[in-house]
Amino acid sequence: MKTSLVRDHFLADHRRLESIFERLLDAFEANDREEMRSLWTDLEHGLLGHLEAEETYLYPAFIQECGARARDMLAQHDRIRQRLADLGAALDLHLVRLDAASAFISELRAHAAEEDQFLYRWADERFEASGRQRLVGALSYLPADRGPAASQPATQ
Ligand SMILES: [Fe+2]
Ligand SMILES: [Fe+2]
Repeated sequence: MKTSLVRDHFLADHRRLESIFERLLDAFEANDREEMRSLWTDLEHGLLGHLEAEETYLYPAFIQECGARARDMLAQHDRIRQRLADLGAALDLHLVRLDAASAFISELRAHAAEEDQFLYRWADERFEASGRQRLVGALSYLPADRGPAASQPATQ
């Protein structure tokens, strides 16, 4: 049994994003516009980077090996991006509704649970140590720093 390096690291990132979202909801309830805008920038940056790291390093091989389920999970990323864009636009117009934001958190949690159960466990079994290490590194520099290493897929 290999270590759960990928799973641990990506789940920690899910928790980090969720905590930003919870603080965002607090700011929303307190009507603290400045805090909302700052937290939104953190959330957007972190979430888009997370999705991109998964799509670059995990999903191509996952889809090859796990087919329909993997494609369905990847399709959820498009919905997450769309929802993120819609909420960002609503935030700019001061029209965010708490129920819409809460629904988005629920959607993210469901996606995260599915990835925990299938994607990350698969990745920890599928990749050797160097590939797993690269996957973990992918979360630290995408999308802010798209250095040359970013284009190298994880290998076995
Ligand atoms: Fe994902
Ligand atoms: Fe994820």
